[in-house]
Amino acid sequence: MSSQPSESNNTQSTTSTLNLKAIAILIGITAITVAFLTPLRNNLPSLFSRTPPSVQRTMSSSANSSLKIVKRPWNARGHADHGWLYTFHTFSFASYYDPSHESFGPLRVINEDRVEKGTGFGTHSHAEFLIWSYIVRGELEHKDSMGNLENLKRGEVQFTSAGTGIRHSEYNRKRDEDVHFLQIWAKPYTRGLKPSYVTRKFTDEMKENKLVRIMEDQKRHSGRDAEDQPIPLHADLNMDASILSPGKKVVHDIVAEGKRNIFVHLVMGGRTQPKSGGAKIRVGDVELGEGDGAYITNATGPGKIEVESVGDKPAEFLLFDMGL
Ligand SMILES: *[C@@H]1O[C@H](CO)[C@@H](O)[C@H](O)[C@H]1NC(C)=O
Ligand SMILES: *[C@@H]1O[C@H](CO)[C@@H](O)[C@H](O)[C@H]1NC(C)=O
Repeated sequence: MSSQPSESNNTQSTTSTLNLKAIAILIGITAITVAFLTPLRNNLPSLFSRTPPSVQRTMSSSANSSLKIVKRPWNARGHADHGWLYTFHTFSFASYYDPSHESFGPLRVINEDRVEKGTGFGTHSHAEFLIWSYIVRGELEHKDSMGNLENLKRGEVQFTSAGTGIRHSEYNRKRDEDVHFLQIWAKPYTRGLKPSYVTRKFTDEMKENKLVRIMEDQKRHSGRDAEDQPIPLHADLNMDASILSPGKKVVHDIVAEGKRNIFVHLVMGGRTQPKSGGAKIRVGDVELGEGDGAYITNATGPGKIEVESVGDKPAEFLLFDMGL
């Protein structure tokens, strides 16, 4: 759990300078266009006022028509079976390195882990990253240098903002069962945060045929600290979860304006994807099975992303909505 490649922000700042220039030019063009259109509009009031609402609807629903959806097949992920740990890495992690799967927006790690009974990750340190565990099955003990000690169960999400640095261990104390969980890391937009810790439970019932918000950028968060509220974090990232029965659909409303990166991950049932049947979801024209993910680019907010359950078992999946 020590892979923390150093990354440079140079490309990013060049891109944002370019974007600013492009925006300035666009504003200029818009101003000129408006200036020309104003007299025209005054002369042709009927033409402008009669824009039928149906035209506007067509325009807004076509906001997602150019989505680019690329599947991340379950068995193309990095994989390691250490006996005590059976794991899949969506992005480069530990000894798995693939430059084309390094990160996506602020999302840096999705590890689908099974930790055997009576084993776990010994005490190790983290800094800067936002780290959360989504427990699928079994129990995971979490103990850290901030004095927290908890035994996490299905539905619970443990979030640690490592900030200036923490030490923690994650252990399966059960005698009869492995633990299956997703460990997710994101890069914060603020460095040097004071380390913090939140655990919250999101029940199956809350997720059934709905999208429930689990994580939310603290800039968009209501600020209410209640059990049914998402966990705030310092990244332009939202994460929703759903358990979708066969035949059901949910629609995600993109959470911010402009270009967004969306990632979808369908949680595994067993240790491998079933050869036939199992949980399946469909996004656009792409069908995902257990353990598959999808990179969705060229999404623009406001807009909608629809996910349909097309398998023969309820599909538990995560949906991330992120800045570029
Ligand atoms: C991205 O979306 C825009 C419209 O929003 C479209 O013109 C463009 O072709 C799309 N690009 C790709 C790669 O799909
Ligand atoms: C795009 O949004 C419309 C609703 O506005 C929805 O019916 C459609 O399924 C969406 N497409 C995708 C690929 O999510």
